Amino acid sequence: MITLFDPKTDIDLGTPARESQVQITLNIDGRSISVPEGTSVMRAAALMGTTIPKLCATDSLEAFGSCRMCLVEIDGMRGYPASCTTPVTEGMTVHTQTPKLATLRRNVMELYISDHPLDCLTCSANGNCELQTVAGQVGLREVRYGYEGENHLEDVKDTSNPYFDYDPSKCIVCNRCVRACEETQGTFALTITGRGFESRVAAAGGENFLDSECVSCGACVQACPTATLMEKSVVELGQPERSVITTCAYCGVGCSFRAEMKGDQLVRMVPDKNGQANHGHSCVKGRFAWGYATHPDRITKPMIRKNISDPWQEVSWDEAVTYAASEFRRLQQKYGRDSIGGITSSRCTNEETYLVQKLVRAAFGNNNVDTCARVCHSPTGYGLKQTLGESAGTQSFDSVMQADVILVMGANPSDAHPVFASQLKRRLREGARLIVIDPRRIDLVDSVHARAEYHLALRPGTNVAMLNALAHTIITEGLQDQPFIDARCEGNDFARWSEFVSRAENSPEALAPVCGVDAADIRAAARLYAAGGNAAIYYGLGVTEHSQGSTAVMGIANLAMATGNIGREGVGVNPLRGQNNVQGSCDMGSFPHELPGYRHISNEVVRAQFEQAWNVTLQPDPGLRIPNMFESALAGSFKGLYCQGEDIAQSDPNTQHVTAALSAMECVVVQDIFLNETAKFAHVFLPGASFLEKDGTFTNAERRISRVRKVMDPLGGKADWEGTVALANALGYPMSYKHPSDIMDEIASLTPTFTNVSYAELDRHGSLQWPCNAAAPDGTPTMHIDQFVRGKGRFMLTGYVPTEEKVNNRYPLLLTTGRILSQYNVGAQTRRTENVAWHDEDRLEIHPTDAESRGINEGDWVGIGSRAGQTVLRARVTERVAPGVVYTTFHFPESGANVITTDNSDWATNCPEYKVTAVEVSRVYHPSEWQKRFQEFTDEQHRLLKERRGAKAEVRR
Ligand code: SF4
Ligand code: SF4
Ligand code: SF4
Ligand code: FES
Repeated sequence: MITLFDPKTDIDLGTPARESQVQITLNIDGRSISVPEGTSVMRAAALMGTTIPKLCATDSLEAFGSCRMCLVEIDGMRGYPASCTTPVTEGMTVHTQTPKLATLRRNVMELYISDHPLDCLTCSANGNCELQTVAGQVGLREVRYGYEGENHLEDVKDTSNPYFDYDPSKCIVCNRCVRACEETQGTFALTITGRGFESRVAAAGGENFLDSECVSCGACVQACPTATLMEKSVVELGQPERSVITTCAYCGVGCSFRAEMKGDQLVRMVPDKNGQANHGHSCVKGRFAWGYATHPDRITKPMIRKNISDPWQEVSWDEAVTYAASEFRRLQQKYGRDSIGGITSSRCTNEETYLVQKLVRAAFGNNNVDTCARVCHSPTGYGLKQTLGESAGTQSFDSVMQADVILVMGANPSDAHPVFASQLKRRLREGARLIVIDPRRIDLVDSVHARAEYHLALRPGTNVAMLNALAHTIITEGLQDQPFIDARCEGNDFARWSEFVSRAENSPEALAPVCGVDAADIRAAARLYAAGGNAAIYYGLGVTEHSQGSTAVMGIANLAMATGNIGREGVGVNPLRGQNNVQGSCDMGSFPHELPGYRHISNEVVRAQFEQAWNVTLQPDPGLRIPNMFESALAGSFKGLYCQGEDIAQSDPNTQHVTAALSAMECVVVQDIFLNETAKFAHVFLPGASFLEKDGTFTNAERRISRVRKVMDPLGGKADWEGTVALANALGYPMSYKHPSDIMDEIASLTPTFTNVSYAELDRHGSLQWPCNAAAPDGTPTMHIDQFVRGKGRFMLTGYVPTEEKVNNRYPLLLTTGRILSQYNVGAQTRRTENVAWHDEDRLEIHPTDAESRGINEGDWVGIGSRAGQTVLRARVTERVAPGVVYTTFHFPESGANVITTDNSDWATNCPEYKVTAVEVSRVYHPSEWQKRFQEFTDEQHRLLKERRGAKAEVRR
């Protein structure tokens, strides 16, 4: 039975909702209805349960009025107006079903069908095709016109896109795909070529889909009412039979999806139009790149080995966790309680992250727990806590639709947060103004119908100088919001700060040479931000991953407070979190100094609550951060690690330092879905579960907690939380959760910002934004409305201290790193999908001037050397980067981008300075020495994996 669509939520009302205080009352087919002014007749009818046939209309797109299927009769109006483009008026009387209308609609449908293949029974859309449905609705029984005349039935299919086909023979030229690409996605990759009968959909430029501007978001496929644009997976597997609502496991946007299933096989992921973060939109990763979940590289059996040069032995879960526990206890007996620790994952659920930190604190008996946020947004946590009092973004994504000025700093939303980028671009098309502060000419600087008014292409490492220059302009030109400051902020701190930023040394003129940006542009951008209406800041890792990352975050918060741009819709300070659950992993107490809810471990009252609930004594001092774990391992005092769902050997800086530290440990336990780079140094491998195989929750960048729902059984036999429970029990610390909802109940009972969160409430609301407690039972979309979480906002001094990483004659260029749309983080998932069609290797972007002076041409192999190491990549010569700056992504382990990055880190949080590395680049013909060693080691580890044995473990000490 087809049980795909919930009529309460999935019904297509034909045209978008309108908001208005004015209600219009009209009569449709003898019944009265009131709807907001601006609503279409079609939507009004649909709201009262009357279906008007339609083809070119859908409620995610503005009406177009081309198919003439939705004609109605309206008293007092001549002819037969299209209900999708006709707005309601007071007292209007509409007839949707008359004999004349039935004839007209049948005639129109007859024309469509006369140029459409009659292969419904074998068509991949059979049973889920709007053309087929509408043909049934209008009662079409025969087609009077044959195929003798001109038609499009022989038009050639475009199968170039790895995920969907375009079959023009089935196209009814309804324009929905073109509008979806424009309105929903904002890429404008499609067009209708020709006129009348010659009209055809084409990827702009007349290229095939793969070679066009198309970014494969799937919006056009979603909008297409026929089988013209169709997922290859549906063509191959057939129409799905049921669906489960879940949350994307890639980026921090946290899109909601319907996982559409046939039996226990995933057929497609369809963005959920009720999704509160994505409103039915998606990007190529969440929509299509899920094939990794069943990739043959998945490791589904626990494995152990004594040394990393030994072949793996497959064992039972019991044997694996018993062995890991005995090793951890042995290490603690020999080297002390603090000789082991754990790393939680921002890819795992809140419940799983909570359990790992609980295991470390309660079963290991120390606070040596950290998370990958250490290497991305830890400065956000610190900087926002100091200034605003809460370590999280202040707004919902939807808030951007109220912004008049949008400042994007050190972030590239079109690649890293694509669905939010589409929303942002929509707001820009409506007239909002844009400032981009980034060394690179990111897409937003100059995209279709959306341009940055100012692109401040600052030199990497000068964010704080730039923020001070902006603040100087605001204060010295009197652009601050003094009433807001007086009412909402600490007066003494403001006085100190305003005196500091007003100094001549912080003027744009003084700092322009430091930043490499014209002083006049800095002043103009500051004026726009301060005086342009609602101004919102969105920032990313280009702000945090610096030696002054925390200072820059505080500088951003200072700007927002000084201009009163905080505490309402359309404004705020918004960190764009990279991974799906990086907000959640921080919230869940993954840092060595903080228990869940960002409460310091030294706080006796808080500690006592956890001690009572967990029935243990907790250590009062913070444990080791990830970099400290590495240093202690190299010093011989840190010997064992439980690493769930993170690949520190690829993602952390100075790879050779990290791998040396891992090699120095005696028991590395990795829980993951693939043998990742870290697992090559592991002694115990516990098979991880993909997001499709478990229940739980993720928390996105807007503090939105959304359900992750299991659609298939874990391939490795256990969800990740069950693996942690087994390990805790083997360590002698009892855990007895039956379901992740039990874990969430415990989190809610111990975390003041989560007290009203439960699976029942999440199911009821769809999602909830924390704080969600007695004071805010339905969650908190906008923070700091009447007062800051810390009471009064606190301006912090942000003296600019240049990074120690300096260019010189030997290393004259600055390397900065980032992401690309089609790949995700360390690439372990996306590299195992068809997304490699767009990006199958990391490349080094270099400005033509720098390339020419080094004799480097497009596609040449180039060696990149820094003080930390050397690697070799292929060059891409582009003006996207400024002279003196080079750029690469870090999605492929063999690229060794992090062999180059150094140990420098943020002064407050140790977040690595990924964004500034002094390098030299030269043309080469061979891989680097590191790459050769990497390849040998990788080959050896693959051999050991291939030769793994199923024998009983014989490695117990
Ligand atoms: S491809 Fe689909 S959505 Fe686009 S015009 Fe053709 S039928 Fe309409
Ligand atoms: S997949 Fe997205 S970007 Fe590509 S044509 Fe369709 S809507 Fe446009
Ligand atoms: S924008 Fe992020 S959350 Fe949404 S589908 Fe893409 S990767 Fe997933
Ligand atoms: S649905 Fe109204 S004209 Fe096509």
